Amino acid sequence: MTGIEGKSPKLRVAVLVSGGGTNLQALIDRSVKGDLNAEIVAVASDRGDAYGLVRAARAGIPHHVVDYGSILKGHGIGASAEAGPVDLVELDAAQKILRIADTATRLERLRRLVCAEQQLIGVLDRHEPDLICLAGFMRLISPYFIRHYNRDNAWRILNIHPALLPAFPGQHGYEDTFSHGCRWGGITVHFVDEGEDTGPVIAQAVYPVWPDDSLETIRRRGLSLEYEIYAQCIRWLAAGQVHVDTTSPRPKTIITDSNYPDILESWTIKAFQDRSRKAE
Ligand code: GAR
Repeated sequence: MTGIEGKSPKLRVAVLVSGGGTNLQALIDRSVKGDLNAEIVAVASDRGDAYGLVRAARAGIPHHVVDYGSILKGHGIGASAEAGPVDLVELDAAQKILRIADTATRLERLRRLVCAEQQLIGVLDRHEPDLICLAGFMRLISPYFIRHYNRDNAWRILNIHPALLPAFPGQHGYEDTFSHGCRWGGITVHFVDEGEDTGPVIAQAVYPVWPDDSLETIRRRGLSLEYEIYAQCIRWLAAGQVHVDTTSPRPKTIITDSNYPDILESWTIKAFQDRSRKAE
């Protein structure tokens, strides 16, 4: 089980953004139309110039900035008053995101990251979110943040990634797809675990890459699929239709929506229809 089902009529979703926030906008639009079964209760960003914050403001959604850039440089460091003690050595043993050979340097990096996350948790928790959705949030997530939300065996953090994971994790999914000459690109929505883009996959969609495509045309095609697939995953979660099977060596999700094959087909058809739009 994901552990977030059936709490309230609508899921309370907090969205994290670092940039333009077109995925955020797609979620806001669907939520306003009543097409998401979820309410976006807060938006937060690691940077004050993220356009996603403007989108949140326009929609009347509370929005917050935690200045990761300055915290990671060592400014304004200090545990937040409410946060309990942090065992950095234990967190370091669990983390799979910081690949820094020197232990002292790695622990200091982790300490700063945890400090930023404590501030982020502080602003998010005021809104009592059921679910945290990363939507172009370009920061590493440490086990501190993950454990805070994935407590009680629940999976409460989602990410959307612009590649068919496990191919091309990281920050350049479209660039990697294009530069490798892939014939198919993909989108993945997954739960966040302690690795980088390694958590259990909830949904994937593919799109064709045509010989005359550019990086920008595939990004446009992929993004329009991102908007559909992210919204659908949130609907499934709100309906209690996502379960996590932890009996296999790697946790796997099971979707219990009888319309699942039709939904998958509709995403593929949409990705092909995009070609005719391009020619217009
Ligand atoms: C999206 O393509 C999203 O999948 C990607 O950032 C973009 C954000 O666009 N996320 C990642 O690459 C995460 N590793 P948006 O700000 O317009 O929603």
